[in-house]
Amino acid sequence: MTEPAATPSAIVSPPVAALPKFDPPLALGVLASGSGSNFAAIAQAITNGGLQAEIRVLIYNNPGVKVAERAAELGIPAILLNHRHFRQREDLDREIVRTLQQHGVEWVVMAGWMRIVTPVLLDAYDQRVINIHPSLLPSFPGIHAIEQALAAGVKIAGCTAHIACLKVDSGPILLQAAVPVFPADTPASLHARVQVQEHRILPAAIALAAQQAGQR
Ligand code: GAR
Repeated sequence: MTEPAATPSAIVSPPVAALPKFDPPLALGVLASGSGSNFAAIAQAITNGGLQAEIRVLIYNNPGVKVAERAAELGIPAILLNHRHFRQREDLDREIVRTLQQHGVEWVVMAGWMRIVTPVLLDAYDQRVINIHPSLLPSFPGIHAIEQALAAGVKIAGCTAHIACLKVDSGPILLQAAVPVFPADTPASLHARVQVQEHRILPAAIALAAQQAGQR
């Protein structure tokens, strides 16, 4: 069976409506480790006027990754904090917190941040750290989520945006989107389909989290 020409539209739960307004705009800090397509999607949502926010700083941990180029093109400050130069996870997180605070960040978005975070970050930004993960959590946490989904033979895959907590890839779910898995899928083809949805739900999840925090 080949993939139908028109891929059935993904299911997003809860449905994403017009995003709430924020005045002043949300001050975001983004943590990313690689390509940064989610970072770009957040920036795009801001430019479109869909998400009222400002990316104050990008922090990345791998020298030479594409996300740094993307930030430079957008004129967003980008700081390399190479985890290899820190003895302990807590030391890296302390430097992350310092950098975020220096830039006036209120909300932290882990957009492909492939590091385990510690209470140093989670306590400094209590309930204000958002993560995107390429599976329908609680299924397939951790690394290689797409490969895990294919190996399990699931027929529906997807992505989850959630508030981060100490346990990796868990915490209160903000939004999820589901996509079909096709028999011919490779990790790359399935990841590409999932990422289209990540780019949809992540900006919406940021707005949702801020709205929910405002109502508490
Ligand atoms: C995304 O698919 C994200 O869900 C995943 O890394 C990718 C980063 O892509 N994150 C995790 O697996 C976290 N456990 P990007 O650099 O193109 O945004």
